[in-house]
Amino acid sequence: MIAIGCDHAAIDLKQAIMAHLDEQGIAYTNLGTDGDPCDYPDMAKAVAEKITSGECEKGILLCGTGIGMSMAANKIKGIRAAVCSDEFSAKYTRLHNDANILCMGARVIGAGLAIELTDIFLSTGFEGGRHQRRVDKITALEEA
Ligand code: RB5
Repeated sequence: MIAIGCDHAAIDLKQAIMAHLDEQGIAYTNLGTDGDPCDYPDMAKAVAEKITSGECEKGILLCGTGIGMSMAANKIKGIRAAVCSDEFSAKYTRLHNDANILCMGARVIGAGLAIELTDIFLSTGFEGGRHQRRVDKITALEEA
């Protein structure tokens, strides 16, 4: 199960991604917003908590730049949110960082690229090995 959320700047992009997930038969839960203006940290918290609770394995957060969402989500223990606007980053943040939330900016990239990044992010596994040690060190920073 994927958790997806956005602020008012990215409603159209979220709808395009949800339509694609529907076509692919990928289950998701939409946490809004679907109309009303909202503050992106509230949506980031809602999506992040779906992951930390174990209800969802990964999340997608969308705002104007993707940056505010990532800043907010990364404040929550257990979240590794990555802003991506290219295929290489979407692939390697899964392979090396075990990112669990993909953030994208609706004012930065188009729906076609965002859908490609979504597919890459959702289909790429974590490489583990030496990268597990590094991810563990990220987790340890939560207590620093
Ligand atoms: C909203 O105008 C905008 O600030 C927000 O979508 C996002 O880009 C913040 O990082």
